[in-house]
Amino acid sequence: MTLLKVEDIKVYFPIRGGLFHTVVDHVRAVDGVSFELQKGETYGLVGESGSGKSTTGKAIVKLHQVTAGTITFQGKDLTYLSRGEMKPFRKDIQMIFQDPYSSLNPKKRVLDIIAEPIRNFERVSVTEERKIVQQYLERVGLNPDSIYKYPHEFSGGQRQRIGIARSLTLKPKLIIADEPVSALDVSVQAQVLNFLQDLQKEFQLTYLFVGHDLGVIRHMCDRIGVMYRGRLVEEGTSQDIYKNPQHIYTKRLMAAVPDLSPDARGQKIGLRKQVAEEYKQLYSTFFDENGRAYDLKPISATHKVALP
Ligand SMILES: Nc1ncnc2c1ncn2[C@@H]1O[C@H](COP(=O)(O)OP(=O)(O)O)[C@@H](O)[C@H]1O
Ligand SMILES: [Mg+2]
Repeated sequence: MTLLKVEDIKVYFPIRGGLFHTVVDHVRAVDGVSFELQKGETYGLVGESGSGKSTTGKAIVKLHQVTAGTITFQGKDLTYLSRGEMKPFRKDIQMIFQDPYSSLNPKKRVLDIIAEPIRNFERVSVTEERKIVQQYLERVGLNPDSIYKYPHEFSGGQRQRIGIARSLTLKPKLIIADEPVSALDVSVQAQVLNFLQDLQKEFQLTYLFVGHDLGVIRHMCDRIGVMYRGRLVEEGTSQDIYKNPQHIYTKRLMAAVPDLSPDARGQKIGLRKQVAEEYKQLYSTFFDENGRAYDLKPISATHKVALP
């Protein structure tokens, strides 16, 4: 079943300038992106910094209004709903952010942080609310007695778990996880990722997983969309993308992954040179005269590539 359908969305930000502070140009942060999420899957958006991944995620939860295109959730067109009309769907779509240090209000107690969405959407008694918060704290592996503590009393990984607990209380269907482990120590990244996978099974969640770390994306995602300058340049199963990349940008992204083993490092440097050369030679095959990627074309049942 298709849970979310994003069709040809564009998000342009005005650039103002000149004496009268008029709009002189636009940043085409997202410039014609389409993909679908099937219920229960994890879809990864990967690409270098500034490619439009976060803006895509934020457009879906309406932190940004789209300039064009449509966003359909469970068959309902959400694109132009007002804040009020959006309310029933805001419960269903939650976003987890990268930085557990800045996304939690430092002046609020854990109880108030986790209870906030419940207070906005449901009417429950104070006792009931505390019970729910404690139950979610326990589920994310934190002590239920820590409800009166403040964010600074927790480690980075624990703070991210508080953020996750907060996003779960309304029983969402879709979670947009924007680089949820990028700010964490490598040693706790795997823990949080495995935990997100456990939650997915337990709560039948669908994930849109945003990241730049190809290792993390590969570990988490069933299907992957590769973004470059506001466009998707390739989409496929993890297998398609990692074993059979077709777009020169995807190949370059793969070649850029640092390799820790000394044996692989030498090979990687060779590969990187080869890919950089290929990139130069084939650039005009893969991008139009304005440097814009073409629309995606299917090359198999699961695999699409931006080709002329
Ligand atoms: N609120 C904003 N106003 C203006 N430009 C923005 C805004 N948010 C993002 N951008 C620009 O849009 C582009 C895409 O950004 P973003 O979606 O954050 O990329 P990513 O998450 O892939 O790193 C960047 O060029 C960024 O500077
Ligand atoms: Mg981002």
